[in-house]
Amino acid sequence: MKISQILQANRSFRRYLEEDKVPLQEALRWVKNLRYTNSMRNAQPLKYILVDKPTLLEKIYPLLRWAGYLKDWNGPEKGERPPLLIVQLLDKDCSSTARFDEGLQLSALTLQATEAGYGCCILAAFDASSLVSTLAIPSRFTPLAIVAIGHPKEHVVIEEQEGENIKYFRSSDGIHHVPKRKAEELILTIPEA
Ligand SMILES: Cc1cc2nc3c(=O)[nH]c(=O)nc-3n(C[C@H](O)[C@H](O)[C@H](O)COP(=O)(O)O)c2cc1C
Repeated sequence: MKISQILQANRSFRRYLEEDKVPLQEALRWVKNLRYTNSMRNAQPLKYILVDKPTLLEKIYPLLRWAGYLKDWNGPEKGERPPLLIVQLLDKDCSSTARFDEGLQLSALTLQATEAGYGCCILAAFDASSLVSTLAIPSRFTPLAIVAIGHPKEHVVIEEQEGENIKYFRSSDGIHHVPKRKAEELILTIPEA
């Protein structure tokens, strides 16, 4: 796949084939590749915890906040939850901020997983203090995001955005629709001098 095709395929999926595990060695390879990403001041302040043990996953699933726009849906049910969660942490001994780096690495991680045929969802909404205690994360680290990964059990399509309506929605056939601004809207033309 070309990078432009991977970018298009890299949608947010929120329902997965829970029993279809992601091999840990493969996920470790994606995370290890993150050392190649650009880093502000080359501080490289990001660390990761990979969670795939069912007993631990059961404790973390209730801490995740899914799809704020889907008001009548409380997140994936048993059987459709992500089999792998990767927690992104800021190591405050390296830097007080991970600004820019966090997004670059989240993107690099999800693009690799997408290239390998998986689906992901980046989550910034979760109960961070419960996560810290559940995983016994030392105080030096701050959880920034969680990436859910697995084989998608849902279909996601991009829609041409109408006006300012940015809210994704699910149609009655279960398909998840994501409005995106028209490409032309991204380019600002300035008057010639
Ligand atoms: C930084 C970041 C944080 C996000 N946090 C959440 C979250 O907490 N829960 C969730 O269900 N989706 C979350 N998402 C997914 C977005 O809702 C999703 O990217 C957006 O709806 C566009 O869909 P797309 O990723 O398929 O383009 C997050 C995405 C990003 C980039």
